[in-house]
Amino acid sequence: MSSKSSWNQNRLTKLLGIEYPIIQGPLGGLQAQKLAATVSNFGGLGSFGGLSLEPSAISDVIAEIRSLTAKPFALNLWVSMEDEGAFASDEKAFQRALAPLVHHIAGLGGTVPKFKPYSPVKFADQARALIDAKVPVFSFVFGVPPKEILDECRKQGIHTIGVATSVDEARALDEAGVDAIGASGFEAAGHKGAFLDTSPQALMGTFSLVPQIADAVSAPVVAAGGIADARGIVAAMALGAEGVQLGTAFLTCEGSGATATHREALLSGKAARTGLTKGFTGRLARGIRNQLMEDLNQAGSEILPYPLQRYLVRNVSTPAESAHRADLLPMWAGQSANISHYTDATKLMEDLVTDVSAVGDSIVDWTEKRRGGRRAASSGRD
Ligand SMILES: Cc1cc2nc3c(=O)[nH]c(=O)nc-3n(C[C@H](O)[C@H](O)[C@H](O)COP(=O)(O)O)c2cc1C
Repeated sequence: MSSKSSWNQNRLTKLLGIEYPIIQGPLGGLQAQKLAATVSNFGGLGSFGGLSLEPSAISDVIAEIRSLTAKPFALNLWVSMEDEGAFASDEKAFQRALAPLVHHIAGLGGTVPKFKPYSPVKFADQARALIDAKVPVFSFVFGVPPKEILDECRKQGIHTIGVATSVDEARALDEAGVDAIGASGFEAAGHKGAFLDTSPQALMGTFSLVPQIADAVSAPVVAAGGIADARGIVAAMALGAEGVQLGTAFLTCEGSGATATHREALLSGKAARTGLTKGFTGRLARGIRNQLMEDLNQAGSEILPYPLQRYLVRNVSTPAESAHRADLLPMWAGQSANISHYTDATKLMEDLVTDVSAVGDSIVDWTEKRRGGRRAASSGRD
């Protein structure tokens, strides 16, 4: 290595055209256009989760974020939009899954829902809207998009980031030519995103996942899961990541779309007890442990295929939010929820950048040295 490296100038920042390799992760269905723009305006990469949006709504969101920032930002989609059983799931399954929730809905004064067959939003249509709008960055989870979509992104100059929860998934994304690979450890808030082996036993922590993915792929790696302050960023970079993605730390910031009850729970200092459940949506995800999670995690509880369980649980969460009932609300949170209590995203970014800058360059120098010739021999992505 001849010249000294700078922690915030690497393949990822060059690729995405950003100043700092810090990504505000997509926050699913929580509307967060302003938050995404704030992070992008600072020089990081803001993201917006468009998972359940109709294509026209995706175009609107992209236009809205563009009205708030001229900098790059990401729109995130789920490649796999439903579990196999969603189309065949019938009224009997619906009634069985509803049974443990009925007393909560009644107690909250909500309306007991009726069965409706699943009516899908198609990933290909969502991706079309995003490509037509020439979004700067397209990030995705739960799979590898079809080749035509990735080819079209390359043609339009749209950069892609795919999320992996295992080394095998990272290799699959790398082979498909995805520009950057998210390595998402099981500490992370929200859904696990696995698409090759979805069993809970396959989940890996960020410390094991990041270096193994960094060694296995040629694309730059973005570490996610459990990173909440500069210590986490420095550790991720020492492990071989060229970027980090934080979710929970941004949830408490203004503009995140988290509800008041959720926000209070995260800021209370009592959000350390998180757990994994399929009960909130039908797919494995991490949130604060509460009564609703315990009820739905009971052995024998019927859980509908994704996203039917998500629609079902909304019948509890909507009245629970009105009644300010943290015990009956799905509240996404990662295992490091108690580390960060920022409410201002710009201040969070400022502090992350200041603190990482104190040591970041030496970590990157060390990591670059370790990687040595491996990078030079890689597939010419530098
Ligand atoms: C409420 C919420 C919703 C999320 N939705 C998505 C999503 O739709 N797509 C995605 O790729 N990641 C999603 N994530 C994951 C985050 O973008 C990020 O990778 C993760 O939160 C990082 O781990 P941390 O929470 O420990 O910081 C979500 C996270 C949260 C907190």
